[in-house]
Amino acid sequence: MLTGAVEPDAWSRFSAMKNVRRSSLIAIRLVVQMSPLVLHVTGARPNFPKAAPVHRALAARGVTQLLVHTGQHYDDRMSDVFFRELELPTPDVNLGVGSGTHAHQTAAVMVGLEELFTRERPGLVVVYGDVNSTLAAALVAAKLQIPTAHVEAGLRSFDRTMPEEINRIVTDRLSDLLFATSADAVAHLGNEGVDPSKIHLVGNPMIDTLLANLGKLDAERARSEYGLTDRYALGTLHRPGNVDDPADAAELVKAVHAVADQIHLVLPLHPRGRAQLDRAGLFAHPNLRVLDPLGYLDFLSLVRGAEIVITDSGGVQEETTILGVPCFTLRPNTERPVTITHGTNRLATRQALPELVAACLSTPRGDSWPVPPLWDGEAGARIADVIVGSVHGG
Ligand code: UD1
Ligand code: UDP
Repeated sequence: MLTGAVEPDAWSRFSAMKNVRRSSLIAIRLVVQMSPLVLHVTGARPNFPKAAPVHRALAARGVTQLLVHTGQHYDDRMSDVFFRELELPTPDVNLGVGSGTHAHQTAAVMVGLEELFTRERPGLVVVYGDVNSTLAAALVAAKLQIPTAHVEAGLRSFDRTMPEEINRIVTDRLSDLLFATSADAVAHLGNEGVDPSKIHLVGNPMIDTLLANLGKLDAERARSEYGLTDRYALGTLHRPGNVDDPADAAELVKAVHAVADQIHLVLPLHPRGRAQLDRAGLFAHPNLRVLDPLGYLDFLSLVRGAEIVITDSGGVQEETTILGVPCFTLRPNTERPVTITHGTNRLATRQALPELVAACLSTPRGDSWPVPPLWDGEAGARIADVIVGSVHGG
């Protein structure tokens, strides 16, 4: 069963309540008025396409900003390439925390941010998504009583075996401004007792970045660069539930090979799990091409030209929804059900994947598809307006 189903009237109930409960914003305004510095915390690959439009929209409104990179991701292909391609300025600060266990990584980010926040005393800290850097920043800001804005608030998989779910719940609990991408996220926050005046349904900044770069996504160029002469499928796989355990990895490799038996498969592989998948024999299929992680523009150019995408990524479920590319998500649940109800996404088990792919390949693709409300390229502007409203008491 799909978890996190959309509650149809959630938005109207929320809007009605929101008009009469604005008191918690007053506290944010008081602090932000004292220090108008807005400090963004980023750290991992999915953070960068979310932060870019928010940073840009705040810059256009003359807001003083500090861009922080925790260093959770550090390879050029996992980090620097996004700053070059997405017109994000070089981070003002890089904490360089690197990899580690959850406790080590979260703690290292906290120690670095505590020192930085104490020195800079930002009026608002903006955090993105659900990675360890997000959680660490929200914890530090809360303890220093600095207001926090969470971009991509309220998503829930209801699966606490995923570290991201824990990060989401705690970050939302501690945040003062909650920016939601979809009505189901608003409903989850309401069900958890969050004051409606804190919640803003703004759309999806990751989709702002996708739409802003659509003209640069050249499927033909990418196809020729990667020597793809025929139809192809594209995959990304990195969730611990798929790649960490040897038995899961073996099952995954079997499913992936059964797909590669049907169609040329290109797999830009996240560094997590690469060794485990190698041991499980991933590389041994002639119709499968394993690549290093790709830059944003190359990756999405290949997505655009693909027949099918197979993934366990959160962001890729959303991007395929907008590009209209059929997507099979190799997970038992998704915190992004709107990509199923309004998009091209379907959950798949490893066992069912080969048959689902076969059926999809023999079905002509439609030339129109629904798109989630407000995924229109304006989320960054909406977020910036709310933040500026907090700064100036609007
Ligand atoms: C993290 C996020 C996950 C997100 C993913 C996006 C958490 C809990 N998880 O998972 O939600 O989907 O990023 O990509 O924050 N590594 C490198 N180079 C790098 C970064 C990592 O080789 O630049 C390798 C290291 O061996 C590291 C492993 O990847 O131990 C995992 O990295 P980590 O940031 O801990 O978690 P991700 O699996 O990347
Ligand atoms: N991405 C990329 N190159 C790749 C794989 C993904 O640029 O080789 C982009 C993808 O388009 C999306 C983001 O990385 O914008 C998603 O990050 P990831 O899948 O690592 O994290 P998740 O969304 O699962 O948290």
